[in-house]
Amino acid sequence: MSTAWTSRFALRTKGIRSSAIRELLKLTEKPGMISFAGGLPSPEAFPIQRFEEACHKVLAQKAARALQYSATEGYEPLRELIANNMARYGIEARVENVMITSGSQQALDLIGKLFVNRGDRVLVEAPTYLGALQAFNIYGADYISVPVDDDGLRTDLLEKPLRTGPKFMYVLPNFQNPAGTTLSEGRRHELVLMADRYGIPIVEDDPYGQLRYEGEHIPPLVVLDRENLRRDDGYSIGNVIYLSTFSKTLAPGIRLGWIVAPPEIITKLVQLKQGTDLHTSTFNQYVAYEVARDGFLDQHVKFIRQLYRERRDVMLEALRESFPPEVTWTHPHGGLFLWVTLPRDLDMQEVLQSAIHENVAFVPGDAFYAHPELESRQHMRLNFSSATPEQIREGINRLSLAVKSQLLLNYA
Ligand SMILES: Cc1ncc(COP(=O)(O)O)c(C=O)c1O
Repeated sequence: MSTAWTSRFALRTKGIRSSAIRELLKLTEKPGMISFAGGLPSPEAFPIQRFEEACHKVLAQKAARALQYSATEGYEPLRELIANNMARYGIEARVENVMITSGSQQALDLIGKLFVNRGDRVLVEAPTYLGALQAFNIYGADYISVPVDDDGLRTDLLEKPLRTGPKFMYVLPNFQNPAGTTLSEGRRHELVLMADRYGIPIVEDDPYGQLRYEGEHIPPLVVLDRENLRRDDGYSIGNVIYLSTFSKTLAPGIRLGWIVAPPEIITKLVQLKQGTDLHTSTFNQYVAYEVARDGFLDQHVKFIRQLYRERRDVMLEALRESFPPEVTWTHPHGGLFLWVTLPRDLDMQEVLQSAIHENVAFVPGDAFYAHPELESRQHMRLNFSSATPEQIREGINRLSLAVKSQLLLNYA
């Protein structure tokens, strides 16, 4: 069908399709379905009463400003709160290094807009966050994929791809989406050294860093980079742009994330953001500030860690109890996902069909590769934050039936 509009789509929209996950999520709305497919935080993790009080306070005391247009960089008290909060994780950003975005997803889009020319190569992890591929695809990015293992990005395989001069590296050091793996401290040091040696900067995407359920905090790349460059004069230079979000610690519906970058990058991003949405919702920023302030954010993050740690443990235990020995999975130290590896000869689309038939859903791993045709296809991503412990036990049991039936068919 070619109408006056559809024949006029811009060239950059060619080849852009609705994501596999979005299509799959429609199926998961079927009654009785247990879904491990989405990446949704649990509604039990939303601090509803605190939001209610904050909305009330903002409307009663600050409505004239909160309902008005505002600065593109974001609401200054919120940027300050973010800077103070990050300092506890070692990130010493100043307010002028922090820009508020409409979720991290917008940060990824703005980064694509700022850096990616058609045909530029972005070095990504294999697997990586699907939403980043979607954001960069629209600007015509090509990709170089480097595999991850249990210690995150394989830095031992980086030298050759870095020599080919990718525009930047896009890296998920903590509890990676989709694989749940964490970049080891040793590799983090190597990565920032290599970024500097080859002059290839890093976009560090860290939506899950605060949601650690075991083990010690590992310094972010942005911190190690600064130590390596021995900078103590703010972010005048630096090889790392850092992204994070309130989506997993407060609520994704408020669409609030942030970028930490050198001032010259923030200035450019601000110009681009103006063309996109002028600024992130003033009201949401005021409300988020009232919600997060006075230590509430830290206190609430502790609660979320407990909630999700239990769910992760329930899923790991259910997998151990019901999955056949030829199946393996990652042991995430935080975040929302784990990554299951099935025997090579199984067809994941058939496993998915069989799972849907059992009323349980997951996302087949090939959705998360920049080069799915080159990568192994025997993975599934399982989300453990949104189902209750009972649903997780039942869902993993159903999934094991689906996997076992496919294994039987395969060996028959
Ligand atoms: C790795 C990663 N980056 C960015 C995002 C986008 O998050 P936001 O809700 O802040 O746009 C997500 C969301 O799941 C994610 O997993």
